[in-house]
This record gives sequence, C-alpha cells and structure tokens, in this order.
Amino acid sequence: MDKLIIQGGHALHGTIDISGSKNAALPILFAAILPEEGVTFRNVPDLRDIHTTLKLLDVLGCQCTHDDHRATVQAGALRPEAPYDLVKTMRASVLCLGPLLARIGQARVALPGGCAIGARPVDQHLKGLELMGARFDLEGGYILGHCQHLRGAHITLDMPTVGGTENLLMAAVLAQGETVLENAAREPEVVDLARFLRACGARIEGEGSSTIHIQGVSALHGADYTIMADRIEAGTFMAAAGITGGDLLLRNCPYDELEAVILKLQSMGMLIEKTADGVRAACPGPLRGTDVKTQPFPGFPTDMQAQIMALMCLAQGASVVEESIFENRFMHVQELARMGADIKVSGHTAMVRGVDRLTGAPVMASDLRASASLVLAGLAARGETHVQRIYHLDRGYERIENKLNAVGAHICRVAEQA
Ligand code: EPZ
Repeated sequence: MDKLIIQGGHALHGTIDISGSKNAALPILFAAILPEEGVTFRNVPDLRDIHTTLKLLDVLGCQCTHDDHRATVQAGALRPEAPYDLVKTMRASVLCLGPLLARIGQARVALPGGCAIGARPVDQHLKGLELMGARFDLEGGYILGHCQHLRGAHITLDMPTVGGTENLLMAAVLAQGETVLENAAREPEVVDLARFLRACGARIEGEGSSTIHIQGVSALHGADYTIMADRIEAGTFMAAAGITGGDLLLRNCPYDELEAVILKLQSMGMLIEKTADGVRAACPGPLRGTDVKTQPFPGFPTDMQAQIMALMCLAQGASVVEESIFENRFMHVQELARMGADIKVSGHTAMVRGVDRLTGAPVMASDLRASASLVLAGLAARGETHVQRIYHLDRGYERIENKLNAVGAHICRVAEQA
C-alpha cells in the first residue's frame, strides 16, 4: 500500500486541469451495456474505479478499450453475473443491475455491502425495478433478478438517491411504455447520464428536476460522448487554494454545478470567479468560519463535507457541519484531531473551532473524501504529514500529487512497508 509524504506550508500558485467526473463516468460506462452498437467516451478520468468498472464490463461480456482518457465499449453476448470479488471493491457496480435487466432480462449481482461511510442499502433500486416487472431473490449474498420485459411504471423514490435514480433511468429507456421517476436525484452526474442516453436515441425529459419522464424505445444506437468535468475534484482544489493561502486557475472547471460550494467558500473569505481561461480560486486573507449542512443537489454536496471541514480547522471562529446524507461520514475527524484540529462530534453534527496551526503527523485514510481532507490538512500543516492507505484516494483523484506538486506542493508517494 502506498502513502503520501507531504511537507506543509507552501502556498499553491498556478494552473490545474480538472479531469472527467468519476461519478458521471461510472454510471455512463455501465449504460454502455444498453446500446447494440459500440460507444466511444472521451475525457474519461484515469482512476482505480474506472479500471474496476471496465474489468467488470469485460466480465459481463463487453469488449472494452481504455487509453489516454478515451474508452470504447461494445456490448457483446452479455453475461448476467457481477462477481463479489469485483463488487466488494466498488459498490457502484450495482449500477449494472438496471442495464442487464433491460438488455437480457436477468442479473446476478453481489450485494455491494456497506462501506466506511454507511450501510449504503439498495432497497430503492430494487423497489423501482420491481414496479417495472422485475423479481428478485437474495441468495448467498447475491441479488438474483429476472424479468420477461421491463414495463414502464410510475415510481416515487423515498429519497432522491443518486444511484437509484441512475439504475432506474437506465432500466426505463428500453422498457415498454412510459416511466415517471418522482423525487428523482437532481445531481449533475444524473443529467450527464441522461444526456448520454439521449445521444444513443433514448427519449428522456426532465433530468435535473425531481420528476423525470422516460418513453421506452425498442433499441439504442451507439454514440461518441464526452464525460463532464469533475465538480468534486474541482471543489477539492478550490479548498486547496483556500487552506494554503494560494491562488489557482482551474481549467475545464464546472462553475454552476458548484454553486453551493462556491458560495460557502466565498463566505469563508475566498475569492472565486470565472475568467476567460477557467475558474480562479484564491485566498487573499484569513479564512472565516461558516456553517454547512449537506443536502441533495443543489444543496451543499456530502462529497465536499470532509474537504471544507479541513478548511474550517484553520478558519477564525467556529463552524458547524451537519452531515444529513450518510450516517458515518466523520471518519476524517479523529485524523484531523491528530494534527491539532479542535473538533467535537455529536451525532450527525461536528463543531469545529479554528486553531492557529495544524502540525504534520502520520494519519490514516479511511474513505475517498476523508483522504482528500487529510491531504488538504497536510498541505497547510507545519512539518511533515504521512497519509497512509491512499488507495482510497486513487479511486477518485487522478494523480493528485502530480497535479498539486505542479502548483507548488511538496508531496511524494512512497510504497508503505507491508
Ligand atoms: C452517489 O452514491 C455517489 N457515488 C457518492 O459519491 C455520493 O456521496 C452520493 O451519491 C450522494 O451524493 C457515485 O455516484 C458512484 P445515494 P450513492 O444512493 O448513489 C440512502 C464519492 O465520494 N439510500 O444518493 O450510493 C443511502 O444510504 C461517493 O464519490 C437508501 O436508503 O448515494 C444514503 O444515506 C461516496 N436506499 C442516501 O440514500 C437506497 O436504495 C444517499 O445515497 C439508496 C440510497
């Protein structure tokens, strides 16, 4: 397992290119099961989760290629089983359920199980697919699904689940008749998936709102599609500019999809503005505390909660963070405390009191965004920080140490003694 060794205290200055979005690319790659023709994807991020997804697509009977941010997928003679040894490394594998049922009427998908941040059930996925005519059994930790032919249905989700919306959207595009998804997730990644499906001939209206209408079609054709930029990676680098007192230009950077994050960072004293070449993120003076409650889009994204908390640790005054999406997404708190942060957790709420400085320490990554939070803290801390188990980080950030070193950070990746 690798670790990152970070020498803190260097303000970041320069330009960073934002990569394609992990959370858009994953569902869109699984959606490539749906067209009978091959598809080409561009701006595909080079991440562990992408490699895992392409490996799983290969197991499911798709011919895949991947080189230099470009991938092709051609669904061949599809096979129904997504094995546990792959699914356990990436819970988003459950997104093959809808496409498999839509194409071949059967699926045998290992139940993804929980992860560090929560139980992560998939009951809404299954409820919606059952309303469309699928039947499920649970056997040996596998979800066994089958259907004659999916039928359109009127589905109201209990909560705006991103993955649930995506699975049902993919199932509905080839179902017989109309499907209406109520209380659907509004995330930009759901919109990007809908755009890809429409490029393949799907009939979808209302993506980005809470109600999505899908008219099933008999078949989808191929497409050449460019994945949207990663708003969470962009938000993470904005926070890096803030915590180091730096000034970054982020190219290929979303702006409107990050409104809730940008408003909060501006309320803390950051300067964030659109320019002709991208988005500028700078921290001209001291950071001020603020309060954040994570919400479904367009609210403040849970995937930026750990990162803004790192910023709050060095802000003047107190900040309150309420995590309303996942039940256990404060794994970074104890690690930040090892670096001198003053954070008290009570249930789903964390009270952060700004301190004058953080000091470098050995810390342990526990999940993707907690890892990013520890890297941010290490960039600002006095001395050396060792962030261990950074395989978590590699799932969602493309060569993060290269991108940060190119703008003045001092990070090296070393193999960690077993
Ligand atoms: C997606 O996960 C993202 N992953 C997550 O990003 C992100 O944190 C999350 O959406 C929320 O925005 C990908 O897109 C690959 P949910 P997902 O279904 O789809 C409950 C990252 O760091 N729920 O919207 O799994 C669930 O327990 C990752 O990049 C049910 O109860 O999230 C959670 O409390 C982490 N039943 C809430 O809904 C269900 O059937 C939101 O989950 C489904 C979800």
